[in-house]
Amino acid sequence: MVDPNKIVFFDTTLRDGEQSPGCTMHHAEKLRFAHQLANLGVDIIEAGFPIASTGDFESVRTIAAEVKGVRIAALARAKSIDIESAARAVEPATQNRIHTFLSSSDIHLQHQMKLSRDQALDLAGESVRLARSLVDDVEFSPMDATRSDPAYLCAMVTIAVQAGATTINIPDTVGYITPSEYAAIFRMLKQLPGMEKVIFSTHCHDDLGLAVANTLAGIEGGARQVEVAVNGIGERAGNAALEEVAAALLVRHDVLPYTSNIVNTQLYPTSALLSEIVNHKVSPNKAVVGKNAFAHESGIHQHGVLENPLTYEIMTPASVGVIANSIVLGKHSGRRALEHRLVELGHAFSKQEIDEIYARFTELADRKKLIYDEDLISLLQPEKTPT
Ligand code: KIV
Ligand code: ZN
Repeated sequence: MVDPNKIVFFDTTLRDGEQSPGCTMHHAEKLRFAHQLANLGVDIIEAGFPIASTGDFESVRTIAAEVKGVRIAALARAKSIDIESAARAVEPATQNRIHTFLSSSDIHLQHQMKLSRDQALDLAGESVRLARSLVDDVEFSPMDATRSDPAYLCAMVTIAVQAGATTINIPDTVGYITPSEYAAIFRMLKQLPGMEKVIFSTHCHDDLGLAVANTLAGIEGGARQVEVAVNGIGERAGNAALEEVAAALLVRHDVLPYTSNIVNTQLYPTSALLSEIVNHKVSPNKAVVGKNAFAHESGIHQHGVLENPLTYEIMTPASVGVIANSIVLGKHSGRRALEHRLVELGHAFSKQEIDEIYARFTELADRKKLIYDEDLISLLQPEKTPT
């Protein structure tokens, strides 16, 4: 029974995310990360693409055997060799899924697949039927759905559902769609006959920087599964970032009144673990988990945050697993932040002394981008002001 208020988190960090240049992971790293995804509370882990290599097959099979309390999915093209391999890989899991896909856009069918529309419809049905004969839970993705003829997309989705697919994913494979168009696709598909029990899913790439916005629009259009990757890694510009979608559901519950199993305090630890494993630093201005996501540099903001963090923070750092916000001292900082840090360092000064230290501080901050504690200590002794 589909809970209309629940969002299912399908994490594809280990599959689509791993397709990000430079993000390949070894077997032990994948297993370690899969355990963390389970701690984070994702509902489904897409553990890999078993036909791609023996290594990928082994990783999926180990994750399926060892990571408990979460459904393990494997990707398969609409080919029997892929589907049979995916079934063997996920077989040890208590709950498993085969995710099979086939392009639905003319540009893919003609130039890549060399298939007619009718041949592709037959193949979609046959593949889902084969997958359903091997596992109970089958997801079907019409690849490049968002650039497909809507009537043909409806036909392919209908055939996949009749063949036994229980989840229909609508990939914005090349990150092309806009939010209102994406929502409209879900509304259109949900009206087709026989779709009452189907869970529709988003899968958004970030080529236009719209992946998270499109994911949220998909939910508004009726999708109840989101395919996301930690830190937004994935093909080209990446996938919708798991932590951003989760934070939007947390902060904007007023307009997105849905529940999920995500443990929000695990968002930052999961991001940090992935960054360590793939050796990719998260961009400092990355929403939710970037180094600057809870850092304040300008005097006006620092003053507000020191009075009440809610003046410039829409969620508490702790709510997403970040230890604390930070007041960064630089050329935009004011007296209030300077004094606050000096007090934290054990120094109390009169107003006049603060004014004098602040004058030396702004002079130094003009030359140096960031002011660290050791610089502050030197500022207290004018003759030691760093040059
Ligand atoms: O982006 C895409 O179309 C995919 C499919 C395999 C679901 O990743
Ligand atoms: Zn993708």
